[in-house]
Amino acid sequence: MTLDSAARKAANFTLNGLRPYPIAVTTVSGGRSNGLIALSSGSGSIIPEAPRVMVGLSKYNLTHDLVMESGVFVMHLLANGSEEVLDASLKILMQLGGSSGRDGDKLDGLSTKVGVTGSPILLDALSYVEGRVVNSMDCDENTVFLADVVAAERLQPSERLNIGDAWAKLPKEWIAQYEANHEPQLASAMELRGL
Ligand SMILES: Cc1cc2nc3c(=O)[nH]c(=O)nc-3n(C[C@H](O)[C@H](O)[C@H](O)COP(=O)(O)O)c2cc1C
Repeated sequence: MTLDSAARKAANFTLNGLRPYPIAVTTVSGGRSNGLIALSSGSGSIIPEAPRVMVGLSKYNLTHDLVMESGVFVMHLLANGSEEVLDASLKILMQLGGSSGRDGDKLDGLSTKVGVTGSPILLDALSYVEGRVVNSMDCDENTVFLADVVAAERLQPSERLNIGDAWAKLPKEWIAQYEANHEPQLASAMELRGL
């Protein structure tokens, strides 16, 4: 089923309002580390002492396959604040969100440490939760992963970076690259949904 243009606009308005923060998802499988940027993440439990995190990853993306194999990932919020802080966040966003790890090591040049799951933690992020997958849902075009939070840390005292502020600061050339990368991803999603 597809929507007419008025309903599509209203759906975008509603759903985009639910995803204000870009997150950096990293993982490792068989010694291969990688990561991407996502907007489809959220809390997966109401229990403060046993939090859970969920994220939806497109099957088109390498990070999806690595999380599927290893069952571990780290979900980072990015930081906003001084020019230096914002630049470090945009570097993460551009490095992880505009191309695929299938074409090269995207973590190269980013400061990381190894988390308790073995996944890389991005040291210039604002904060992170590290998760072990407890369940996943196959949604044709993507997989929604639900994970127990097994470690978490606030890395700096800055503000959260929201997606509007990030888009306003991203260079035009990078946005063009992102859009070129997005096209085959969208085509793959539609095919997997039978649309
Ligand atoms: C703002 C933004 C939001 C994104 N949201 C998602 C998302 O929710 N899920 C997803 O799988 N990819 C999302 N992407 C796309 C991936 O970050 C992108 O395709 C990445 O190049 C995949 O890399 P990989 O193949 O190395 O995993 C988003 C990208 C951007 C810039």
